[in-house]
Amino acid sequence: MKKSNIVLIGFMGVGKTSIGKKVAQILNMEFIDTDLLIEKSLGMNAPDIFKKYGEVFFREKESRVVNGLANIKNTVVATGGGIVLNPINVKVLSNIGKIVWLNAPLELIYERIKSDINRPLSYNKSIEDIMNIYFKRHKLYKEYCDFCIDVSGKSIETVAFQIVDYYKNC
Ligand code: S3P
Repeated sequence: MKKSNIVLIGFMGVGKTSIGKKVAQILNMEFIDTDLLIEKSLGMNAPDIFKKYGEVFFREKESRVVNGLANIKNTVVATGGGIVLNPINVKVLSNIGKIVWLNAPLELIYERIKSDINRPLSYNKSIEDIMNIYFKRHKLYKEYCDFCIDVSGKSIETVAFQIVDYYKNC
């Protein structure tokens, strides 16, 4: 297969990290998370990076991290929900692997993320605020993905095996 990696995209709270780890375990692949790479490179967590330096700075670091992935192999990559905002990120990611979009309805996502202090873009926000970001992103995830899975009502294992099936058959 030409594309040896799997890249998970999708809104905050859809389970990219936990599902990605499970897929990596099943397929005996490496796992990386772009948010963790950003946090490690700065020695700070994402909320603190947002607070101290702002979103533009975070996006620059995010793009740098994505560029550094150009040569990875046999890896499942979980990305931050905003990775698709920069088309150059998407270009790099689509060159290294199959892009799988984990999708869920806004209401479900909102319940999961609204009180999560680790998510600076959604913490303490109303559903209307989140809705704007959600629909803008939704179009991008749809445009850029190779495969989409609706995760609502499914366990981590169920979604992971759907990804594994897709990957094995493509
Ligand atoms: C963001 C999502 C976060 C993280 C940062 C910004 C976003 O990752 O990258 O807080 O813009 O949607 P998760 O999608 O893993 O929550």
